[in-house]
Amino acid sequence: MLPRQKYPNTTELTNHWTELAVPKARYRNKMHYIRLLRGPKLDASNLKRPLISILLTITTDLGDSFLYPDEPVDLAISVENPTGQSVILEADRPPRWTAGMRCLDVKVSIKPHLKKDDVTCTIRIHPTTQTPPLGVLKGSDMLPWRVARGSPASEGLIMPVSVEMAKGICSPVAVRTLRLDSRSRSQPRDQMDIDLEEDIGESIARHIWDAGVVTASFFGDACSTKEGIYDTLPMREDGFNILELGSGVGILGITLAQVIERAVVHGHTSTKATVLLTDLPEAEERARSNISRAKAAFSHINPSGSTVALQYEDLDWDEGKHGQFGTFASARPWDLVVLSDCTYNVDSLPALVGTLSALHTANLKHDGVERGAKTFAILATKPRHSSEQALFGLLTSDDWQYNVLKSITLPKLGEEDEAVYIYLLKKG
Ligand SMILES: C[S@@+](CC[C@H](N)C(=O)[O-])C[C@H]1O[C@@H](n2cnc3c(N)ncnc32)[C@H](O)[C@@H]1O
Repeated sequence: MLPRQKYPNTTELTNHWTELAVPKARYRNKMHYIRLLRGPKLDASNLKRPLISILLTITTDLGDSFLYPDEPVDLAISVENPTGQSVILEADRPPRWTAGMRCLDVKVSIKPHLKKDDVTCTIRIHPTTQTPPLGVLKGSDMLPWRVARGSPASEGLIMPVSVEMAKGICSPVAVRTLRLDSRSRSQPRDQMDIDLEEDIGESIARHIWDAGVVTASFFGDACSTKEGIYDTLPMREDGFNILELGSGVGILGITLAQVIERAVVHGHTSTKATVLLTDLPEAEERARSNISRAKAAFSHINPSGSTVALQYEDLDWDEGKHGQFGTFASARPWDLVVLSDCTYNVDSLPALVGTLSALHTANLKHDGVERGAKTFAILATKPRHSSEQALFGLLTSDDWQYNVLKSITLPKLGEEDEAVYIYLLKKG
């Protein structure tokens, strides 16, 4: 049963990590995120001049450094009510982020005489250089082969953020919107916006990471045609099951679910797919919220009813390595295991690789799975330090074969590059 489809040859096969130049990180040369340090606050005490105060920073995914731009970066802030009308009083001079800043305190004046209960709005923050749609990161801007030389995206990307305020009280979550558009660009329905909630403030499991954004963008692009989806994923027509390890907010698994839903709508496949996100309990709440948002989006893509079952279940690799899986993870064999940015902690690599191997063993025990069937995994990583190479020794010891499916240079804001490497792993 596993797998029906052989992986096609890929153009960029590299077997050795050491052949890849692991770039020297320079703080200012990374992908950056506008991040709220706390929920925006409404001060309506002066009815003539109500204010929304926003405390933000612009950091890397890890939050370990702040944007240090060569040229100041101007930010645009929009505040719109549910009918899409702006409630900003007048356009102030755009807030400006300059080299050396660690945070930026912005006050936005909104229309006079708005009381707290009247202020239900969406606040969006993005660089003024961003091309429409505002507040949305276009997945194609993450992919060097889709970005025109000289465009703002070729110089570096800063991910926008949005946040909801209801009756003057800010939601505890920020939202990132990733737009996956098709290679053909011909039909509006090929565009899919994925809304991903993340925590305001610090957390590992509950915000998005470069490797997930880049890999989701890659899948959105590569799987937008019939040939593309079959070349990129080991699809089966009689049911296709994907399990994500360390899913965090769910960017990768949710993208794959949306990509498959789109393919069904276009008649590229008629498979019934299951996508199971897994992580530690601390990730569960955000992952489930994002699944709910995705299901609402599916009903727009496919009004006749979604064909992709999107689920969440806790899966701790310290249990997974012993073959201890929950009800959903045990329910079926997995055609594809996916994971992004889960290899930065060297101490947890043995449990992670052990879990991958235990999933392979569990696959073989399911009825109808051929003896000797292969298990495939797609692992995306943005190398942070050389000790992460230990992953490859562990994979080899457990008889996993691996090669680079794609390496994608991150858009830079400076001189040196970082890259996300997407590996294909095989066992069996
Ligand atoms: C850097 S985050 C990446 C999240 C997500 N894959 C992404 O790309 O946005 C690493 C994830 O691995 C999860 N993780 C770490 N140790 C784990 C373990 N022992 N079992 C399961 N998940 C774990 C964390 O909870 C976190 O969600």
